[in-house]
Amino acid sequence: MDVTETLKPDLVETGAVEEAQPPRRQPEPPGTATFRIWRGDRTGGRFVDYATPVSPGMVVLDAVHQIQAEQANDLAVRWNCKAGKCGSCSAEVNGQPKLMCMTRLNELPLEQPVTVEPMRAFPPVKDLVTDVSWNFRVKTQIAPFKPRPPDAPDGTWRIAQSDVDRVQEFRKCIECFLCQDVCHVLRDHHLHDEFIGPRFLVYVAALEMHPLDTGDRVEALKREHGIGYCNITKCCTKVCPEHITITDNAIIPLKERVVDEFYDPLARVLKLFSRREEP
Ligand code: SF4
Ligand code: SF4
Ligand code: FES
Repeated sequence: MDVTETLKPDLVETGAVEEAQPPRRQPEPPGTATFRIWRGDRTGGRFVDYATPVSPGMVVLDAVHQIQAEQANDLAVRWNCKAGKCGSCSAEVNGQPKLMCMTRLNELPLEQPVTVEPMRAFPPVKDLVTDVSWNFRVKTQIAPFKPRPPDAPDGTWRIAQSDVDRVQEFRKCIECFLCQDVCHVLRDHHLHDEFIGPRFLVYVAALEMHPLDTGDRVEALKREHGIGYCNITKCCTKVCPEHITITDNAIIPLKERVVDEFYDPLARVLKLFSRREEP
């Protein structure tokens, strides 16, 4: 076991982001690989190197579990499904926000140590586990779903399939918070009190664009949720394991609604009249 204090600047630190390109395919890993894992808590920590046997088909979470079982029984790691669906095993692998259970070792350069560290946008709890409770507090601040009265006497609604399709994408979110982790507004500028982050802009979009919803979250988007801080870098979209088109399909349409509401006088007047005509 080797201990090191330093880590080269990763892609996220330098402001660069992973390009959308096919994962680099390495031959299936033979032998042994070294994992440079962050060990520590809220008071500080360091990277520790662990060499462990690797075999075809392994993912980063397998290696972490193997190290936990054989060399570091007190290594803390959060996981649940091991199938990319619970969003628990989020971490930074070689400086990139990733689900550990979906990151195959044959996509990594195993000739050098693989760094595994907790998400940096949230406070560390222990080792690879971070405190993501801020996200759940944010969610409670967003106005909930408010459906219009039923369209038919039997209490049912009629909605167009195209309207259903539009919001379906947003419902794939597994709340892994990798998009929150990569967003510079949270990660680098720590504006957690002023900006809800891409995950919750997706959540607002799912409500605002829902064909039955009658709520209005546009003013809150501008004044409380801080949508103006997003400068459309698209880093969030690039790391989403569910391939949700966060920026183009959620954030930009929400920004357009804010512009219509606050900066387009004609749209504002039309909206005022349409509200008056509502029953
Ligand atoms: S596009 Fe906006 S929300 Fe997404 S990472 Fe960039 S600044 Fe953050
Ligand atoms: S939008 Fe994507 S990256 Fe963000 S929390 Fe949901 S699944 Fe994760
Ligand atoms: S363990 Fe559930 S997403 Fe990785």
